Amino acid sequence: MLSLRGLSKSYTMGDSVVRALDEVDLFISSNDYVAIMGPSGSGKSTLMNILGCLTGADSGSYQLEGKEVAELDDDQLAMIRNRHIGFVFQSFNLQARRTALENVMLPLRFSEVSRDEAKTRATVLLQKVGLGDRMAHRPSEMSGGQRQRVAIARALVNNPSVVLADEPTGNLDSKTSRDIMKLFDELHGSGQTIIVVTHEEDIAQHAQRIVILRDGKIGEIKEKHCEALADVTA
Ligand SMILES: Nc1ncnc2c1ncn2[C@@H]1O[C@H](COP(=O)(O)OP(=O)(O)O)[C@@H](O)[C@H]1O
Ligand SMILES: [Mg+2]
Repeated sequence: MLSLRGLSKSYTMGDSVVRALDEVDLFISSNDYVAIMGPSGSGKSTLMNILGCLTGADSGSYQLEGKEVAELDDDQLAMIRNRHIGFVFQSFNLQARRTALENVMLPLRFSEVSRDEAKTRATVLLQKVGLGDRMAHRPSEMSGGQRQRVAIARALVNNPSVVLADEPTGNLDSKTSRDIMKLFDELHGSGQTIIVVTHEEDIAQHAQRIVILRDGKIGEIKEKHCEALADVTA
Protein backbone atom coordinates (compact mmCIF):
# COMPACT_ATOMS: atom_id res chain seq x y z
CA MET A 1 0.00 0.00 0.00
CA LEU A 2 3.04 2.30 0.35
CA SER A 3 5.36 1.96 -2.58
CA LEU A 4 8.56 3.87 -3.22
CA ARG A 5 10.45 3.55 -6.48
CA GLY A 6 13.72 5.28 -7.27
CA LEU A 7 12.92 7.96 -4.74
CA SER A 8 15.52 10.70 -4.30
CA LYS A 9 15.63 13.87 -2.22
CA SER A 10 18.46 16.37 -1.90
CA TYR A 11 18.97 19.45 0.25
CA THR A 12 21.05 22.38 -0.90
CA MET A 13 22.95 24.32 1.73
CA GLY A 14 24.98 27.15 0.20
CA ASP A 15 27.02 25.44 -2.51
CA SER A 16 26.90 21.95 -1.03
CA VAL A 17 24.21 19.44 -1.94
CA VAL A 18 23.29 16.68 0.48
CA ARG A 19 21.64 13.66 -1.11
CA ALA A 20 19.42 12.67 1.84
CA LEU A 21 17.69 9.88 -0.10
CA ASP A 22 19.28 8.26 -3.12
CA GLU A 23 17.14 6.07 -5.38
CA VAL A 24 15.23 4.32 -2.62
CA ASP A 25 12.97 1.39 -3.53
CA LEU A 26 10.70 0.16 -0.74
CA PHE A 27 7.34 -1.57 -0.62
CA ILE A 28 5.35 -1.59 2.62
CA SER A 29 2.19 -3.65 2.59
CA SER A 30 -0.89 -3.12 4.68
CA ASN A 31 -0.42 -4.27 8.31
CA ASP A 32 3.36 -4.43 7.87
CA TYR A 33 5.50 -3.50 10.86
CA VAL A 34 8.77 -1.92 9.77
CA ALA A 35 11.66 -0.57 11.82
CA ILE A 36 13.98 1.88 10.11
CA MET A 37 17.50 2.04 11.47
CA GLY A 38 20.76 3.61 10.40
CA PRO A 39 23.32 6.14 11.56
CA SER A 40 22.46 9.76 12.22
CA GLY A 41 22.19 11.63 8.92
CA SER A 42 21.42 8.51 6.88
CA GLY A 43 18.03 9.88 5.76
CA LYS A 44 15.61 8.25 8.21
CA SER A 45 13.64 11.41 9.07
CA THR A 46 13.60 12.51 5.43
CA LEU A 47 12.12 9.14 4.48
CA MET A 48 9.50 9.41 7.23
CA ASN A 49 8.54 12.95 6.17
CA ILE A 50 8.02 11.75 2.61
CA LEU A 51 6.03 8.67 3.71
CA GLY A 52 3.87 10.98 5.86
CA CYS A 53 3.22 13.30 2.88
CA LEU A 54 4.79 16.18 4.77
CA THR A 55 7.37 16.83 2.10
CA GLY A 56 7.79 15.81 -1.51
CA ALA A 57 10.64 13.97 -3.19
CA ASP A 58 12.74 15.44 -6.02
CA SER A 59 12.35 12.42 -8.26
CA GLY A 60 11.01 8.90 -8.28
CA SER A 61 7.58 7.68 -7.35
CA TYR A 62 5.69 7.42 -4.07
CA GLN A 63 2.34 5.70 -4.27
CA LEU A 64 0.04 5.57 -1.28
CA GLU A 65 -2.89 3.18 -1.67
CA GLY A 66 -2.38 3.26 -5.43
CA LYS A 67 -2.31 7.06 -5.71
CA GLU A 68 0.75 8.93 -6.90
CA VAL A 69 1.31 11.36 -4.01
CA ALA A 70 3.09 13.97 -6.18
CA GLU A 71 -0.09 14.33 -8.24
CA LEU A 72 -2.36 15.15 -5.28
CA ASP A 73 -3.31 18.76 -4.56
CA ASP A 74 -3.00 20.38 -1.12
CA ASP A 75 -6.56 19.56 -0.09
CA GLN A 76 -6.17 15.90 -1.05
CA LEU A 77 -2.84 15.72 0.81
CA ALA A 78 -4.35 17.30 3.91
CA MET A 79 -7.20 14.81 3.79
CA ILE A 80 -4.85 11.82 3.47
CA ARG A 81 -2.70 13.06 6.34
CA ASN A 82 -5.76 13.69 8.48
CA ARG A 83 -7.60 10.45 7.80
CA HIS A 84 -4.91 7.86 7.18
CA ILE A 85 -1.65 8.90 8.78
CA GLY A 86 -0.63 9.27 12.40
CA PHE A 87 2.75 10.97 12.72
CA VAL A 88 4.89 11.01 15.86
CA PHE A 89 7.59 13.63 15.29
CA GLN A 90 11.07 13.47 16.72
CA SER A 91 10.49 16.97 18.12
CA PHE A 92 6.88 16.28 19.33
CA ASN A 93 5.42 19.47 17.71
CA LEU A 94 2.91 20.06 20.51
CA GLN A 95 1.07 23.36 20.82
CA ALA A 96 2.43 25.17 23.85
CA ARG A 97 -0.75 26.98 24.87
CA ARG A 98 -2.95 23.91 24.77
CA THR A 99 -3.32 21.24 27.43
CA ALA A 100 -2.44 17.60 26.83
CA LEU A 101 -6.13 16.80 26.25
CA GLU A 102 -6.56 19.69 23.79
CA ASN A 103 -3.39 18.72 21.91
CA VAL A 104 -4.62 15.15 21.49
CA MET A 105 -8.08 16.35 20.34
CA LEU A 106 -6.59 18.68 17.72
CA PRO A 107 -6.41 16.28 14.74
CA LEU A 108 -10.15 15.63 15.08
CA ARG A 109 -11.07 19.29 14.90
CA PHE A 110 -11.76 19.28 11.17
CA SER A 111 -13.25 15.78 11.01
CA GLU A 112 -16.83 14.57 11.31
CA VAL A 113 -16.12 13.43 14.87
CA SER A 114 -18.16 15.40 17.44
CA ARG A 115 -16.42 17.32 20.19
CA ASP A 116 -17.72 14.94 22.85
CA GLU A 117 -16.49 11.92 20.91
CA ALA A 118 -13.13 13.64 20.33
CA LYS A 119 -12.83 14.27 24.07
CA THR A 120 -13.67 10.67 24.90
CA ARG A 121 -11.16 9.27 22.41
CA ALA A 122 -8.42 11.66 23.54
CA THR A 123 -9.07 10.77 27.17
CA VAL A 124 -8.90 7.03 26.51
CA LEU A 125 -5.63 7.41 24.61
CA LEU A 126 -4.04 9.61 27.26
CA GLN A 127 -4.96 6.98 29.82
CA LYS A 128 -3.43 4.29 27.60
CA VAL A 129 -0.13 6.12 27.41
CA GLY A 130 -0.19 6.57 31.19
CA LEU A 131 -1.13 10.26 31.31
CA GLY A 132 -4.65 10.04 32.73
CA ASP A 133 -3.56 12.35 35.55
CA ARG A 134 -1.86 14.90 33.27
CA MET A 135 -4.67 15.79 30.89
CA ALA A 136 -4.95 19.42 31.98
CA HIS A 137 -1.18 20.04 31.87
CA ARG A 138 0.47 22.12 29.17
CA PRO A 139 3.65 20.91 27.44
CA SER A 140 5.85 23.23 29.56
CA GLU A 141 4.44 21.55 32.68
CA MET A 142 5.46 18.06 31.54
CA SER A 143 8.71 16.13 31.21
CA GLY A 144 10.20 15.22 27.83
CA GLY A 145 8.89 11.68 28.15
CA GLN A 146 5.39 12.90 29.00
CA ARG A 147 5.36 15.26 26.00
CA GLN A 148 6.49 12.37 23.86
CA ARG A 149 3.52 10.34 25.08
CA VAL A 150 1.08 13.21 24.38
CA ALA A 151 2.50 13.30 20.83
CA ILE A 152 1.93 9.55 20.50
CA ALA A 153 -1.67 9.83 21.73
CA ARG A 154 -2.27 12.70 19.28
CA ALA A 155 -0.91 10.59 16.40
CA LEU A 156 -3.34 7.79 17.21
CA VAL A 157 -6.53 9.77 17.88
CA ASN A 158 -7.82 9.67 14.29
CA ASN A 159 -7.35 5.90 14.22
CA PRO A 160 -4.88 6.12 11.32
CA SER A 161 -4.24 3.16 9.04
CA VAL A 162 -0.54 4.04 9.00
CA VAL A 163 1.40 5.05 12.11
CA LEU A 164 4.74 6.75 11.43
CA ALA A 165 6.91 7.28 14.48
CA ASP A 166 10.34 8.94 14.35
CA GLU A 167 12.26 7.70 17.41
CA PRO A 168 9.12 7.53 19.57
CA THR A 169 10.96 6.16 22.58
CA GLY A 170 14.05 8.36 22.24
CA ASN A 171 13.21 10.33 25.39
CA LEU A 172 11.51 7.65 27.44
CA ASP A 173 12.64 5.54 30.35
CA SER A 174 12.71 1.80 29.73
CA LYS A 175 9.41 1.06 31.50
CA THR A 176 7.53 3.72 29.49
CA SER A 177 9.29 2.55 26.30
CA ARG A 178 7.99 -0.95 26.90
CA ASP A 179 4.44 0.38 27.44
CA ILE A 180 4.62 2.37 24.20
CA MET A 181 5.95 -0.61 22.26
CA LYS A 182 3.15 -2.73 23.71
CA LEU A 183 0.67 -0.16 22.44
CA PHE A 184 2.29 -0.31 18.96
CA ASP A 185 2.14 -4.12 19.06
CA GLU A 186 -1.58 -3.87 19.87
CA LEU A 187 -2.15 -1.44 17.00
CA HIS A 188 -0.30 -3.78 14.66
CA GLY A 189 -2.42 -6.64 15.99
CA SER A 190 -5.57 -4.70 15.15
CA GLY A 191 -4.48 -4.22 11.54
CA GLN A 192 -2.59 -0.95 11.50
CA THR A 193 0.62 -0.46 9.52
CA ILE A 194 3.49 0.61 11.75
CA ILE A 195 6.71 2.30 10.63
CA VAL A 196 9.09 3.27 13.38
CA VAL A 197 12.55 4.84 13.32
CA THR A 198 14.75 3.69 16.15
CA HIS A 199 18.37 3.38 17.23
CA GLU A 200 17.54 0.65 19.70
CA GLU A 201 17.85 -2.97 18.66
CA ASP A 202 15.26 -4.20 21.19
CA ILE A 203 12.69 -1.69 19.88
CA ALA A 204 13.43 -2.81 16.31
CA GLN A 205 12.85 -6.42 17.35
CA HIS A 206 9.12 -5.64 17.64
CA ALA A 207 8.97 -5.14 13.87
CA GLN A 208 8.55 -7.76 11.17
CA ARG A 209 11.24 -6.18 9.05
CA ILE A 210 14.20 -3.96 9.73
CA VAL A 211 15.24 -1.58 6.97
CA ILE A 212 18.75 -0.20 7.38
CA LEU A 213 19.58 3.10 5.70
CA ARG A 214 23.13 4.12 4.89
CA ASP A 215 23.93 7.43 3.18
CA GLY A 216 20.40 7.75 1.85
CA LYS A 217 20.34 4.24 0.38
CA ILE A 218 18.80 1.04 1.65
CA GLY A 219 21.77 -0.92 2.93
CA GLU A 220 19.92 -4.00 4.03
CA ILE A 221 16.44 -5.35 4.80
CA LYS A 222 16.22 -7.96 7.53
CA GLU A 223 13.06 -10.07 7.46
CA LYS A 224 11.94 -11.36 10.83
CA HIS A 225 9.16 -13.83 9.93
CA CYS A 226 11.20 -16.95 10.60
CA GLU A 227 12.35 -15.81 14.02
CA ALA A 228 8.80 -14.77 14.94
CA LEU A 229 7.53 -18.21 13.95
CA ALA A 230 10.34 -19.85 15.88
CA ASP A 231 9.26 -17.88 18.97
CA VAL A 232 5.68 -19.10 18.64
CA THR A 233 6.67 -22.75 18.36
CA ALA A 234 9.39 -22.60 21.04
N1 LIG B 1 15.98 20.73 6.08
C1 LIG B 1 17.22 20.33 5.75
N2 LIG B 1 18.08 21.16 5.16
C2 LIG B 1 19.32 20.76 4.82
N3 LIG B 1 19.81 19.54 5.04
C3 LIG B 1 18.99 18.65 5.63
C4 LIG B 1 17.66 19.00 6.03
N4 LIG B 1 17.08 17.91 6.60
C5 LIG B 1 18.01 16.94 6.56
N5 LIG B 1 19.15 17.37 5.99
C6 LIG B 1 20.38 16.58 5.75
O1 LIG B 1 19.98 15.39 5.07
C7 LIG B 1 20.65 14.27 5.61
C8 LIG B 1 19.63 13.26 6.14
O2 LIG B 1 18.99 13.85 7.28
P1 LIG B 1 17.86 13.12 8.11
O3 LIG B 1 16.86 12.59 7.16
O4 LIG B 1 17.40 14.05 9.16
O5 LIG B 1 18.69 11.89 8.74
P2 LIG B 1 18.42 11.02 10.04
O6 LIG B 1 17.01 11.20 10.47
O7 LIG B 1 18.78 9.63 9.61
O8 LIG B 1 19.40 11.51 11.08
C9 LIG B 1 21.61 14.80 6.66
O9 LIG B 1 22.88 14.94 6.07
C10 LIG B 1 21.02 16.13 7.03
O10 LIG B 1 22.00 17.00 7.46
MG1 LIG C 1 16.15 11.81 12.30
